[in-house]
Amino acid sequence: MQFIITAPQKLQGELKVPGDKSITHRALMLGALATGITTLEDFLEADDCRSTMSCLRSLGVTIGKNGKKLQIKGLNMVLQQADAPLYAGNSGTTARLLLGILAGQPFKTKIIGDQSLSNRPMRRVAEPLVQMGASITDEGGHLPLTISGGNLRPLTYNTPQASAQVKSAVLLAGLFAEGKTTVIEPAASRNHTELMLKSFGAEIETGECRVMVEGRPVLKGHPIRVPGDISAAAFFMVAAVLVPGSKVLLKNVGINLTRSGVITVLQQMGADLELRDQRCYGTEPVADLMIHGGVRLNGVTIAGAMIPRLIDELPVLAVAATAAVGRTVIRDAGELRVKESDRIHALSGELRKLGAHLTETEDGMIIEGSSGLKGARVDSCGDHRIAMSLAVAGLIATGDTNIAGAEAIAISYPQFMADLRSLAIF
Ligand code: S3P
Repeated sequence: MQFIITAPQKLQGELKVPGDKSITHRALMLGALATGITTLEDFLEADDCRSTMSCLRSLGVTIGKNGKKLQIKGLNMVLQQADAPLYAGNSGTTARLLLGILAGQPFKTKIIGDQSLSNRPMRRVAEPLVQMGASITDEGGHLPLTISGGNLRPLTYNTPQASAQVKSAVLLAGLFAEGKTTVIEPAASRNHTELMLKSFGAEIETGECRVMVEGRPVLKGHPIRVPGDISAAAFFMVAAVLVPGSKVLLKNVGINLTRSGVITVLQQMGADLELRDQRCYGTEPVADLMIHGGVRLNGVTIAGAMIPRLIDELPVLAVAATAAVGRTVIRDAGELRVKESDRIHALSGELRKLGAHLTETEDGMIIEGSSGLKGARVDSCGDHRIAMSLAVAGLIATGDTNIAGAEAIAISYPQFMADLRSLAIF
């Protein structure tokens, strides 16, 4: 599928972005492990979350729809053995978090994924789970992977990289081990798992870059309202910032501090972006974001502990950097190479086709600003976030930008083009 983007005169209007992907995955999984019913409002209906749903259904969980809400009937920590391999599709969160849960189940499960997911590292999750007592066989550190669980011991684990997926897998496995399981990270990754575990009634203690869960809790199902996904909102934040004359209000966006680095960095660059009506959906903070476009942006350095706070937004921030005055340096972001695509390589190649001046480095990019992008034929490289970042680039390019492989967008944001069209004024 191809998308053709033509620069609009401006973007104007109000948008409610889809539900947070990370939170939807976690709500489905914890709802499955809880007692009673968990209902989800404003959840993300996209391919990645469908992968989690179908895996959970194969493990015996009943998930139904009640009007606009999802209903998950919890199995009180005891899942059923699936009669076929679980297909995690393109979704790293599905595969890695489910491994944590399956480590606690006394049966064998095989997990498979699409081509991209089958190239992504799984040992980072398998290693701590094996230390806790699970048996895992894989293909050179990748899917397909077979796990046999049960009889886990608690663990204190220092993760080599800040990864919420690794942290979450260990914490979820820790639910099945008697005693305290602790994860210590080099920098704070997103904390949705620990916040949600708490809301389900688990005993959680958190410190800086450290989280402990007490095993064998009774998790209690409850209603959850999912905040809008800041990672989806980020495409419209940057789009509205870059297109002069724009005025966009993004409603109900999750602004959890472990996720909101994109707001901090855009404000550092000089963007006119204001948080309104800050409030909470359960344990998660949300706000409406008001953005006025056309303000001059300056280049910045994005590095260190900021990286996990905006890891999924780096591609679209790189697009913003092409229009800034001066140089933007992205460092310490080697994790981008093991996402749905090698995002450093994919983005550098595709943005260059649009006339951007940038250098690919081992762990990031150096982007020279004031590029003056020109429309061209580009490719999503099979990666939803690359596709949407290129669409944003197309909004400030002269002429048409033709994005091949745009079907990848359905992984996280099926209505992206319709939402973009609803704001564009030509
Ligand atoms: C996610 C964690 C991050 C992020 C991914 C979603 C999650 O990955 O990039 O899109 O939901 O836990 P890592 O844990 O690999 O950093």
